[in-house]
Amino acid sequence: MKIAVKGKIVLLLALFVLINVKGQTAMVNSQARNFKSLNGKWKVIIDPTGIGDWRQVWQEKKPQKKTDFVEYSFEGGPELEVPGDFNTQMPELTYFEGTVWYKKQFNHTKGEDKRLFLYFGAVNYLAEVYLNGEKIGSHEGGFTPFQFEITHKVKAGNNTLIVKVNNQRKENGLPGVGYDWLNFGGITRDVGLIETNDAFIEDYFIQLQKGSLSNVLGWVQLNGAKTNQKITIKIPELNFKHKTKTDDKGFAHVEFASKFTLWSPENPKLYKVVIESEADAVEDSIGFRSIEVKGSEIFLNNKPIFLKAVNIHEENPLKGTRAFSKEDAKILLNAAKELGCNLVRLAHYPHSENMVKEAEKMGLMVWDELPIYQHIKFSDSLVPQKMETMLKEMVGRDKNRAAVTIWSLSNETYSSTPNRNKALISLTKKCKALDSTRLISHVINTQGYANNTFTVRDSLYKYSDIVAINEYIGWYIPWQGSPSDTEWEIDFPDKPVFISEFGGEALYGNNDLPSDEAANWTEGYQEQIYKDQVEMFKTVPNLVGVCPWILFDYKSLGRMNQLYQNGYNRKGLLSENGEKKKAWYVMKDCFNEK
Ligand code: GCU
Repeated sequence: MKIAVKGKIVLLLALFVLINVKGQTAMVNSQARNFKSLNGKWKVIIDPTGIGDWRQVWQEKKPQKKTDFVEYSFEGGPELEVPGDFNTQMPELTYFEGTVWYKKQFNHTKGEDKRLFLYFGAVNYLAEVYLNGEKIGSHEGGFTPFQFEITHKVKAGNNTLIVKVNNQRKENGLPGVGYDWLNFGGITRDVGLIETNDAFIEDYFIQLQKGSLSNVLGWVQLNGAKTNQKITIKIPELNFKHKTKTDDKGFAHVEFASKFTLWSPENPKLYKVVIESEADAVEDSIGFRSIEVKGSEIFLNNKPIFLKAVNIHEENPLKGTRAFSKEDAKILLNAAKELGCNLVRLAHYPHSENMVKEAEKMGLMVWDELPIYQHIKFSDSLVPQKMETMLKEMVGRDKNRAAVTIWSLSNETYSSTPNRNKALISLTKKCKALDSTRLISHVINTQGYANNTFTVRDSLYKYSDIVAINEYIGWYIPWQGSPSDTEWEIDFPDKPVFISEFGGEALYGNNDLPSDEAANWTEGYQEQIYKDQVEMFKTVPNLVGVCPWILFDYKSLGRMNQLYQNGYNRKGLLSENGEKKKAWYVMKDCFNEK
């Protein structure tokens, strides 16, 4: 083959790779790095037809001759706050599912022997990133961080960053085209520049070994100069130091024992831990605890624990916006604490790092979940890889958070969906390989309910540490008998059982209509559902926890009853204004008695 032709093929391949550079998994603990925020006002172009790609918006062409003109410009347009969803920042964007082009300019001074990374906490759903007119890569997935190294692309002085954001539903997306929440689009979490030394600490895992209350088993991964590097782990409060060295790949095993005050909901103890290499140091606040299934019970720090949980979507209820800040997290988590919870199920996708870290400080265990939700195209050739990437990004970000006790890898998928079992079993194995210390769950709602008997059978439960069931008896399905006479046939009789969703709808304050009719959306009807559910819980074998759906009323566009819902799912125990419905008190009493 002529050299010229070969050269062209190599060039094309290189071009293809460049155009499709995927965002890297973000370095761990981004908030502890040398971080220059790019938050604030960004100029935007709203692109409902998606023509911005054809117009090559990122090139920001300017007229050269008097007869030239350009049919796009950031100048003269609106600005949006980053971080923040775009749906709630402009009326035109309320229901928008499409493309918004974002632009931010920043100055940079190059540091000697320094490297520079562009970090995104999350962009929902697709991001295509351009720096100074050149595409640096893309990322798919609306709820996990990613980064691009721009050391050799950033200029000294002024730089222009343009991000194409698209939140349209994708047949082969995670989630797919159907979901029961407002799919807030935009640059929804922090954006910034992280400057590191030439060699830096890219990743680490510092947690108790599975089943131990004193032995830490972890690792440190360097990026840059790697071989035979001294690594020191310091815990000043314990006057403790552990030294180790990296191998030729910059990887260092970490194993040491110490006497810890263990992290628990009652005492959410965190230690300052300093991870040092010869060229870098990262400080983290780390808790040490053990979570295990033993027989049909869940043990925290070798003691059986009942999970007093609640479901939470990532929405600031008072503002109706995608939650992202510490303040947003505190609104949601304080309400969970007031209800008497010791665990929050962060439905149905990884929430912000602020949410996980605040929960940890407040003594709330965290159920961290991937948006593998209901109808997923498991047989699409791209989906398994997307699932694995999102898993790596979720575990990569949260693996050092003691509060995270459960990785949940799916919600309400169907055994009849092609390739569902194979894809989820494979994902489960990958999750265990990434982190052997936590529980893994799959949530299912295809149980049978006939003759007042639940029949729970799904082969996927074989790969789940707990049998997690979503059931809405009393709302979607009427009771078939007395709740206290409910029977259970569960295929995995020795596993712990967790009721991961239950409840019903009510409009706060709506109490004038008869409370025995679902269609009236009364608080009294919802209250009765909760009373009956609490009765039924007494019949559940190996019950290790319950988790009402949901803490606050939240936005979901398919909820179109214009008397009572108006675009809200009203299963909240609290209204979106934080008002307690009658059912809230039933749940509070239930948790008080546990
Ligand atoms: C499902 C699903 C939730 C949904 C809820 C409901 O079980 O997991 O995401 O919002 O039921 O119907 O309200």
